[in-house]
Amino acid sequence: MRPPAIIDCDPGQDDVMAILLGGRLLDLRAITTVFGNVSLEQTTRNARQVVEFAELTGIPIAMGMAQPLVRDIQHASEIHGETGLDGPTLPPPSVPLVEEHATDVIIARTREIEGLALVPIGPLTNIATALHRDPSLAARVPQISLMGGSLTFGNTTPTAEFNIWCDPEAAHVVFTSGIPIKMIGLNVTRQVAATPERRAQIRSMGRRTSGIVADMLDFYSERVRALTGVPGGAMHDPLAVAALVDPDVLRFEPMHVAIELRGTHTYGMTVCDARHLHVTDLTPTRANGHRGAAPNAEVAVGANPDRFWEMFLDALASYP
Ligand code: BDR
Ligand code: CA
Repeated sequence: MRPPAIIDCDPGQDDVMAILLGGRLLDLRAITTVFGNVSLEQTTRNARQVVEFAELTGIPIAMGMAQPLVRDIQHASEIHGETGLDGPTLPPPSVPLVEEHATDVIIARTREIEGLALVPIGPLTNIATALHRDPSLAARVPQISLMGGSLTFGNTTPTAEFNIWCDPEAAHVVFTSGIPIKMIGLNVTRQVAATPERRAQIRSMGRRTSGIVADMLDFYSERVRALTGVPGGAMHDPLAVAALVDPDVLRFEPMHVAIELRGTHTYGMTVCDARHLHVTDLTPTRANGHRGAAPNAEVAVGANPDRFWEMFLDALASYP
């Protein structure tokens, strides 16, 4: 059975990969948009374009928060391009938006649909705002599977990952909400890269959607290569979808995660208490049970890239 879920996103090429994977493996009840990689207007336009080229008809798209709760707004167009989806040339979208605000959609759908999971793959502003407006939401959401943070180092700053750094106060609200969280951070997403070989494999599928995906991943990977020297952009966001449907793609360990809100050098860091794990293979040590605060998240500590690619390519092959 496909788990019912809402994807909350800021497309972004890797967000598109998550929508495509979710369109096939989740019972996708809505796509909600948030500012992030680019402005809210642009991320919303991008979400509409994806739904249209992938023919994911009937999935409502709702626009959410345009700026962070407290901090100043930041974007990542140096990675994703001016539109956030640079690479292919796509026609202007025509699918309509729903009139409700994204936070209303999150609140209403979780009332109507039992077991509705949330998959946030951008800044956590919509989820935090929905929790603020309806504190009972926390009791209705069985699972949040989010892309954000890192068990090791950051990408936007030495210690902070982009999605969390964009709105650390919102992330704090979510991580202290009591909702079961799977945190899929950079320490695992960087292990799953769109290498030149993978991109060639996608292009050779010869379908319309796979061609668009290859164009997107080429652009994104070239920007990542120019900025970091790494030859393939990480498949960050689709891993948050994969984690909901296949327990063998990622390995998780429970730990307490605090969001740094005051550090001069560490603002937006996910401070993961991994003291109970073995230092090299990150398995629990017998001598060293949990210390400090109780775990509030399952943190991804290991990835199986081949398993992910098998799942992703299978899903992609089913698109027009
Ligand atoms: C995250 O930041 C965004 O640029 C990507 O879409 C992903 O969600 C990676 O740090
Ligand atoms: Ca994203």
